[in-house]
Amino acid sequence: MPKVTYLLPDGSEHEFSLSVGQSIMEGAVSNGIEQVLAQCGGSAMCATCHCYVEGGPVEALPPISDLENAMLDETEAERKDNSRLSCQVRVTEELSGLRVAIPEEI
Ligand code: FES
Repeated sequence: MPKVTYLLPDGSEHEFSLSVGQSIMEGAVSNGIEQVLAQCGGSAMCATCHCYVEGGPVEALPPISDLENAMLDETEAERKDNSRLSCQVRVTEELSGLRVAIPEEI
């Protein structure tokens, strides 16, 4: 199973094995990462699943859709070049080793 590491604002790192097809957001919520609020349930309508991709196989990430791009302009924490909505990134075998940081203000 692909592994994804979540970097939390307190400096801790948490690596989980996720199922292929699960979103990075779902992987966080199902493993108790409470900082990921995911208020819209994964519909790219709330931006409360904002994360920063910090490393790993970034070349395997799916492209940002127009909807995700628009919502990334609504994030509480600063939008950066490595910003993604974690609900819009589905886990693949190729993404194993991905590292994502959860912002302080999500
Ligand atoms: Fe709402 Fe991702 S969960 S935009």
